[in-house]
Amino acid sequence: MSQHDPSVWSSTSFWRRSAAWVTGFSAILLIFLTFDTMSQIQMGSDEDLKTGKVRRVPAPTVINHAIEYKMSRKRGHEVPVIGEEQPFFGKIWSPEDARALLHKGKVTVQAKNCMDCHTLLGNGAYYAPDLTKAWLDPAWQKGGLMQTLTRTHSTEEAMAKFLMDPPKYATHTRRMPNLGITRDEAVAIVAFLKHMSAIDTNGFPRNFSKPHQGEVTYAK
Ligand code: HEC
Repeated sequence: MSQHDPSVWSSTSFWRRSAAWVTGFSAILLIFLTFDTMSQIQMGSDEDLKTGKVRRVPAPTVINHAIEYKMSRKRGHEVPVIGEEQPFFGKIWSPEDARALLHKGKVTVQAKNCMDCHTLLGNGAYYAPDLTKAWLDPAWQKGGLMQTLTRTHSTEEAMAKFLMDPPKYATHTRRMPNLGITRDEAVAIVAFLKHMSAIDTNGFPRNFSKPHQGEVTYAK
C-alpha cells in the first residue's frame, strides 16, 4: 500500500487509455461523417428528378425544370424546389447533352476566372454579387429588370445576352467587363449557374436577393 494513493487524474495510464479511446471514437465518427457527407453531396440521377426524389445536388437535367426558392419554416431558410419541366434555351436536354453542357460551363467559368470577382459555392471574391443563387435572383425572372433591359423573354436568354456584353446592361456602379464570351459559352455558363442554384446549400448565401427586391416590380 503506497502512502500517497495517487488520484486518478494524475495517473499516466488513465490518460493513456483515455487518449486511445478518444482517438478511436473520433476516428469512427469521422469515417461515419465522411460516408454521410459523400452520400449527401452525390449528384442525383435523371430518374430522381422524374420520380420527385429530393437530392441535395440534382442531376444535370435539372436545367430542364423550373426552379423556385422557397422559405422552409422547418429549416429556417430558403431551399430550392424543383418544379415542372420547362424547355431550356428552347429545348429539353438529354442527360448526356445536359452533362456535357454543364461541363463546358464549368470549364468556361474556370478559364475566364469569374472567381476573381464573384463567389461560387463559398469560393471566390466579394467584389461582385455572389453567383451561387444568381439564377434565382428576381431581377432575371419574368417582369424583372434584366429581362426588360436585355429585351428577352426568359431568364436564360437574359443572362446569356448579359454575359456576352455586360457593360451594355450594367445596373451597378461596379461594372463587369466584357470577357469575350461567345454565345455557346454563354449558354453553357447559364446552364452551370442554373444547376448550381438548384443545389441545396443550407440557405447560403444568406439574403442573396435582398438588394434586388425593390427592382422586381420594375416593369409590368
Ligand atoms: C472583373 C470582375 C468580374 C469578373 C472577372 C466577372 N464578373 Fe460578373 N459581375 C461583375 C460585376 C461588378 C457585376 C455587377 C455589375 C452588373 O450587374 O452590372 C457582375 C455581375 C454578374 C452577373 C449578374 C449577377 C446578378 O445576380 O444579378 C452574372 C450572372 C455574372 N456577373 C456572371 C459572371 C461570370 C459567369 C463570369 C465569368 C465568365 C464573371 N461574371 C466574371 C464583375 C465581374
